[in-house]
Amino acid sequence: MTVLSIEGLSKTFDMHVLGDTRVTGLDDVSFDVHEGEFLAIVGESGSGKSSLLKCLYRTYDPTAGRVIYHDGDEEFDLASCGDRVVMGLRGDRIGYTSQFLDEIPRVPAVDVVARPLVEQGTAVEEAREQARGLLDALHVPAELWDAYPATFSGGERQRVNLAQALAPKPDLLLLDEPTSALDPETRQAAIDLLESYLDDETTVVGVFHNTDVVAQIADRVVTLDDGRLQSVVPVTEYDQEVSR
Ligand SMILES: Nc1ncnc2c1ncn2[C@@H]1O[C@H](COP(=O)(O)OP(=O)(O)OP(=O)(O)O)[C@@H](O)[C@H]1O
Ligand SMILES: [Mg+2]
Repeated sequence: MTVLSIEGLSKTFDMHVLGDTRVTGLDDVSFDVHEGEFLAIVGESGSGKSSLLKCLYRTYDPTAGRVIYHDGDEEFDLASCGDRVVMGLRGDRIGYTSQFLDEIPRVPAVDVVARPLVEQGTAVEEAREQARGLLDALHVPAELWDAYPATFSGGERQRVNLAQALAPKPDLLLLDEPTSALDPETRQAAIDLLESYLDDETTVVGVFHNTDVVAQIADRVVTLDDGRLQSVVPVTEYDQEVSR
């Protein structure tokens, strides 16, 4: 079953400061995302990977194209639906972690992670217990659980961010380089958690630089080149490309 049908998606940036220059982020990209798959997005720096994820989460308004999100009998065009529809889909239906951590609220780490669970209706103490379990699985030291992430290292923040996005088990999870700041052992813990915590029906679209991670976790691989779609292949074929 198809979860997302991406059709002719484009994003250009008008740079007024640069004398009205136009920068291309994404150029006429089309592909489908299947329910329950782990789809990796790869490509050189500046090829449009983050722009693609931001268009899917509607952090960016696409310039052209459609992103049809199939949710049971309902369909939404994420490229053009109203903000209120977007806000309604975010949370337990569509989750997202950004590549660079935005402003960190002055809230203890455990509550940052517990918040989406509480919003889903879980009792506060139970939500905190689940949040501690997630932080523990990501090797965040217990003495940090009640501290403010503002003082955390980049890798610690990244793990709080990932735990928060995973916690509500969204149907579609968009991850922008969720393990880039982690050492190999912690990165493996994150991959193990992604595989064990999420349901089989959960669809993940994740940007990754590390080819080992892609080979280990992805079902299919989308390669972008200068904002354009270069290829969509099963991970077995991507594996061969890398090892050649
Ligand atoms: N908000 C923005 N304003 C102007 N240009 C942008 C903006 N966001 C992205 N771009 C441009 O779009 C292109 C693609 O950027 P994007 O961040 O999507 O690349 P990326 O593949 O995620 O790169 P990286 O691997 O370095 O994270 C780049 O040329 C970038 O400068
Ligand atoms: Mg990026």
